[in-house]
Amino acid sequence: MMKDFIFSNTTKVYFGKDQLQHLSEEMSKFGKKVLLVYGGGSIKRIGLYDRVMEELNKAGMTVFELPGVEPNPHHTTVNKGAAICKKEGIDVVLAVGGGSTIDATKAIAATAKYEGDDCWDIITGKAFVPDNLPIVTVLTLSATGSEMDIGGVISNVELNDKQPMFGPTLRSNVSFLDPTNTFSVNAYQTASGSVDIMAHVFDVAYFSAQEEMDMLTRMQEEVLKTVVKYAPVAIDKPDDYEARANLMWASSWALNGFLFSGISQDAVCHMIEHEVSAFYDITHGHGLAIIIPKWLTYILNESTAPKIKRLGVNVLGVDTSLSDMDGAKAAVAALEILFFETLGLKSRLSDLGIDDKNFALMAKKACGSKGKLEGVTTLTPDDVEKIFRMCL
Ligand code: NZQ
Ligand code: ZN
Repeated sequence: MMKDFIFSNTTKVYFGKDQLQHLSEEMSKFGKKVLLVYGGGSIKRIGLYDRVMEELNKAGMTVFELPGVEPNPHHTTVNKGAAICKKEGIDVVLAVGGGSTIDATKAIAATAKYEGDDCWDIITGKAFVPDNLPIVTVLTLSATGSEMDIGGVISNVELNDKQPMFGPTLRSNVSFLDPTNTFSVNAYQTASGSVDIMAHVFDVAYFSAQEEMDMLTRMQEEVLKTVVKYAPVAIDKPDDYEARANLMWASSWALNGFLFSGISQDAVCHMIEHEVSAFYDITHGHGLAIIIPKWLTYILNESTAPKIKRLGVNVLGVDTSLSDMDGAKAAVAALEILFFETLGLKSRLSDLGIDDKNFALMAKKACGSKGKLEGVTTLTPDDVEKIFRMCL
């Protein structure tokens, strides 16, 4: 039975290649002092940093900078950004980058309003901050959906921990989505990001527990089909505007709330993967590519087979005349071909230098305080450890 739901998404999106000219007018609405947050330098290499500065200057803004946000952003970097906000009286934070930069920016925006100085207090629920600074985003990598969602994920490397934070005010006020800013994303990050988009559809909607609305299930499949079609094109021809545009909008729609209206958002594979990137600092989407097919194989039974087969038939070209069980197995095989042959990702955790020494601890942590992961099937730490072993 479908749950009642409220749908609201307040992010104003400027989509397209000539939209950044509106950055100055949007930034001006929030005040005069901006903290510009970015990663390890890709935005300088593609000329985007200069273009953004031009707009901020046009708006007459005073710009403070936090460069160097790490992939899998560190809580200490967030704390550094929040300290600048407090010291300088920042009015608005501007993220220019991928999901890591945007997530760090969201956490900075919240920590800037916290009387303490450690974002980890907020992320772990020790402190509650009802408000945050306004957030503006210029996206450069299609993957996480952070540009239009209410979440962020922060790593505490001292604790080998990686935790999500959520809140309705953590949505970007304004997002600039220019597909040309993703032309420079390399094949590996394009592949990983594309898997992440698909994983969001799987994890928070398609393979989530029970409730379904037919319209949404069919739209989830359309988003998945979009990624299946355009990820290989973007890898082959990085400056294909149509491919980059489709991936960018798919990224935003996979996680902006619409596709999982009224659906339990279990995010089982994400909980499992976050342990891998917390312990080994790997690329999130690559971890998901390794885990998802093994997870589907692990949960395959008579009751899950029809939905897995449906994925195969409607998204991956599996023969509809197969039995539910054979169709489901063919769907998993097709997914593996997509991830590891077409998109060129490595298929095993051992390929990434990961062994089994932390699996028991990672499995326990993935199951959190409830001691289990509740999704389409409930997983215990023992189940999760078995899935990790299948991924080796
Ligand atoms: O740091 P720079 O120099 O910018 O380089 C980045 C980084 O090395 C590079 N890159 C980004 N845009 C580029 C580019 N290189 C060339 N040209 C461009 N236009 O790509 C590398 C990866 O960037 P990152 O931001 O880490 O990737 P992604 O967008 O995949 O973000 C991953 C993080 O987001 C979290 C993940 O766990 C991970 O920490 N997630 C956030 C979610 C959310 N906010 O809702 C949901 C997701 O499930 C996910 O967990
Ligand atoms: Zn993800």
